[in-house]
Amino acid sequence: MSVFLTLLVGLVLLPVLLRLCFPYFWDDMRYVLQMVKVALRLRRYRSSDPCYTILDCFLDTVKRNPEKKFLIFEGESYSYAEVDRLSNKVSNAVRAFCSVKEGDTVALLLGNEPSFVWFWLGLSKLGLTVSLLNHNIRSKSLLHCFNCCGASVLIAGEDLRDAVEEVLPVLKEQKVMVLLLADRCDVDGIIGFNEKIKAASDKPPPISLRSNVTIKSPALYIYTSGTTGLPKAAVISQERMWLATFFQSMCGVTSDDIIYICLPLYHSSGFLMGLTGAIERGITVVLRRKFSASQFWNDCRKHNVTVIQYIGEIMRYLCNTPKSENDRVHKVRMAIGNGIRGDTWEEFLRRFGDLCICECYGATEGNVGFVNYAGKIGATGRVNALLKLAMPFALIKYNTENEEPVRDSRGFCVEVPTGETGLMVSKITKQTPFRGYANSPEQTEKKKLRNVFVKGDIYYNSGDLMKIDEHGFVYFQDRIGDTFRWKGENVATSEVSDVLISMDLIEEANVYGVKVPGHEGRTGMAALKLMEGQNFDGAAVFELMENLLPSYARPRFIRIQEALNTTSTFKHTKKMLVEEGFDPNTVRDQLYFLLDAKKTYVPMTHDIFNSIKDGQLKL
Ligand SMILES: *[C@@H]1O[C@H](CO)[C@@H](O)[C@H](O)[C@H]1NC(C)=O
Ligand SMILES: *[C@@H]1O[C@H](CO)[C@@H](O)[C@H](O)[C@H]1NC(C)=O
Ligand SMILES: *[C@@H]1O[C@H](CO)[C@@H](O)[C@H](O)[C@H]1NC(C)=O
Repeated sequence: MSVFLTLLVGLVLLPVLLRLCFPYFWDDMRYVLQMVKVALRLRRYRSSDPCYTILDCFLDTVKRNPEKKFLIFEGESYSYAEVDRLSNKVSNAVRAFCSVKEGDTVALLLGNEPSFVWFWLGLSKLGLTVSLLNHNIRSKSLLHCFNCCGASVLIAGEDLRDAVEEVLPVLKEQKVMVLLLADRCDVDGIIGFNEKIKAASDKPPPISLRSNVTIKSPALYIYTSGTTGLPKAAVISQERMWLATFFQSMCGVTSDDIIYICLPLYHSSGFLMGLTGAIERGITVVLRRKFSASQFWNDCRKHNVTVIQYIGEIMRYLCNTPKSENDRVHKVRMAIGNGIRGDTWEEFLRRFGDLCICECYGATEGNVGFVNYAGKIGATGRVNALLKLAMPFALIKYNTENEEPVRDSRGFCVEVPTGETGLMVSKITKQTPFRGYANSPEQTEKKKLRNVFVKGDIYYNSGDLMKIDEHGFVYFQDRIGDTFRWKGENVATSEVSDVLISMDLIEEANVYGVKVPGHEGRTGMAALKLMEGQNFDGAAVFELMENLLPSYARPRFIRIQEALNTTSTFKHTKKMLVEEGFDPNTVRDQLYFLLDAKKTYVPMTHDIFNSIKDGQLKL
């Protein structure tokens, strides 16, 4: 009897003990189980012949649940079956009209609208790789992005006609077929495509057209600003697409949920974690053209949204909106995304109710990712033993002064102790591949770090400084090198400085990101050396910026220097400049501020500085 009692007490106490000694035991167990499930599914998809893709998953939902609402957008809604039919029309029109075959690439330049979805699906049905162009970029950058994916067809939304016409002479020279989603188009070299689509059959194209697609085939190109130069096309294979897609199911999104997506679909967060994640769950997507802080909760209420997708900036903007009585009147139970800071997280829960925030970390092209499945405020992920086995990553010592990893006497990198900040790197293996960038072996090579712990090993360099605490929580600290992040977009400093020095007025430019109180990320700033005898012309610089760079990439602040500081190898040094920021009390150089309203740069004043600091002047 007493043995039985002891056993009983033990059984009752066990969970309590576990909770005391290993507070995250059950979270870890649940997550590990999810990982195993996902790994098994991926193995099944990989080995089925032909392989099972997101497109197949979509078609299965169409079969199972044709009338289920798939997309809701600006007062209209489309069922799974309707989107399927519309995508068939795209397939058939493209097939009849463009000479493309399986394995070719077609570039899409579209805003966040439902046609984005059926164009991608329609092109995928022909076994094509779809290149997702960022609709904010123009001229040289746009051409560069289009060219590096090797597409011979460009499909553009009618609202982006000006952007297309601007680069049309070059596209014509390259014999690119340009299809505009307009009823008609009189411009020579641009074909109005709407009529062709309307006239096309809505019957599914033969499956044989995509029968050669494998799990390793490139499914998408998604553009990222890596460490240098113009944007690069990250190669997203079918397999990589599945991995990112599983994020929603790992977070516990169910088939009854309704998700709100206002992030751009040309990024991996909006497309893979948002859209294809939703397809995998077979749920309804409320799509929005652009994030709006004032409409966000109204939209959620109107459509009974249960899951929202975020980046850190969005959460902060929402917290900065005026408080309202119905802040907690909504059905949102979960927020999934990346980049929310601890203070915003707490504020968000206080304001909008006790919903579950599922924060994760990962780069579009990266081979390492974390999920903060335990809901620890401020952390971007959690490490457990299985994860470490599946994904051999390390945090290594990094010298921010020289901007390179610290090497020991034998020339190998050094792991940082628990709780200290280091550079996140992840071993490139068959299981954790790094596909790199399309048509850019040098850029791909730059993201690789060799001879890290033993001679001959290769790691993916994330470019992120991170920290892991003694409980296994991962914290994002900072980005290294030549990019900064502003308004949810990564900006390559060299792309901005290339534009600046294209002006006769400017001899040298050193571009970097500076922190602004009350904002996520860093905003752009440039130190300029002017040509001998020239004066700074704020209006001219503004005009150039406006024409060639998206608003998030334009330097907010400019300082004029006699000479730019360089290292012995003539690299511009940024550390001091970053620390000094844009405070007129510290910076002795001439200092300018970009004033959108006046379309020029104006001299920085203490008043401007103070109102930015207090948050009165919005950037
Ligand atoms: C698939 O590959 C085979 C063998 O390489 C080739 O003969 C066939 O034409 C390909 N199919 C398509 C649709 O490209
Ligand atoms: C939202 O849910 C409420 C109550 O469950 C229901 O009455 C309403 O019709 C739903 N709205 C939409 C747009 O589905
Ligand atoms: C150049 O950098 C050094 C060391 O960081 C600093 O002492 C010096 O003031 C800088 N010179 C200029 C012109 O900024």
